[in-house]
Amino acid sequence: MSLALDPLLAALKAAGEDTRLRILALVSRSDLTVTDLTDILGQSQPRISRHVKLLFEAGLVERHREGAWVFYALSRGGERGKLVDAILATLDPNDRLVARDRIRLDGVRTQRSAVAQAYFKGVAENWSRIRSLHIAEADVEVAIRNALGNQRFAMHIDVGTGTGRMLELMADRTERGIGVDFSHDMLAVARSGLDRPGLAHLSVRHGDITSLPVPDQSADLVTVHQVLHFLDDPMPALAECGRVLKPGGTLLVVDFAPHDHEFLREAHAHRRLGFAPDQMQAWFAAAGLEAASFTALAPAEGVTLGLTVSLWLARRTGANLSSIGVAA
Ligand SMILES: C[S@@+](CC[C@H](N)C(=O)[O-])C[C@H]1O[C@@H](n2cnc3c(N)ncnc32)[C@H](O)[C@@H]1O
Repeated sequence: MSLALDPLLAALKAAGEDTRLRILALVSRSDLTVTDLTDILGQSQPRISRHVKLLFEAGLVERHREGAWVFYALSRGGERGKLVDAILATLDPNDRLVARDRIRLDGVRTQRSAVAQAYFKGVAENWSRIRSLHIAEADVEVAIRNALGNQRFAMHIDVGTGTGRMLELMADRTERGIGVDFSHDMLAVARSGLDRPGLAHLSVRHGDITSLPVPDQSADLVTVHQVLHFLDDPMPALAECGRVLKPGGTLLVVDFAPHDHEFLREAHAHRRLGFAPDQMQAWFAAAGLEAASFTALAPAEGVTLGLTVSLWLARRTGANLSSIGVAA
């Protein structure tokens, strides 16, 4: 690692202030907006904006604009990424302020999760109808089956299963399928839908995408269909998918390509406005997953909001997750 004197001093000066160091510690745990940081740190928005701007200019954080929101994340890779990793590795996680910020971050996440759960409580009964307003569902389902080929899977985990549609779609190719969702109302709809002849090998369980009620390396197939855009930070969820997959197991993520339908945040509890392929690939790599294929399905005329649906296929590598720096 080497940086010339001036850029190194600029980076150290940017990190060398208490609020900015705390911001670095926070964005190392989750992608956050200025509003999130304002809530967590209890300082005014202009102050936080100024600190974040300095960190960005020093190359210590990256920013991703999505519609009206800008998310900040820790710089990954490069000399500045290594520098900021080294600084944070030296920071005592039990320091009073750092620990308090972490608790507040958890509080912000819990609050968001409650907003999303309230949304799904309201829509559970009508979810199948809402689903088809967004996308040409049948085309996506054909593409999913094609992407997965003719392989049979001993254990399929469907994360954010909703009404259990992905379990049903793959039912003829799975020995056992378990859907996990954090909404009791969605699970109630799924249970009644799956209570049909021929589907006895499918079941659902309550759980969060970041702590699945499933043992390590137990799944051959994990599907995450239209779930990641409800999360502020998909990285911990993808790491959790990596944890439950057997080495060589398959992850299928289906979600929107980047778009600017801001109203989906207000009206449908979306947090992220789609994902770019390079962003998803970087998360896969950090979660011990190897990208295998990518398909973009352009919107069918008259059916959708003009949203492109992306399918990402990845395989769990044989690497031990702790050795590549991802909390399992
Ligand atoms: C848009 S629905 C998709 C449901 C299903 N995958 C489908 O395509 O029909 C998103 C689902 O993810 C669930 N969900 C959102 N955030 C979650 C979380 N943190 N943990 C578990 N489930 C979550 C919601 O309850 C909801 O059922």
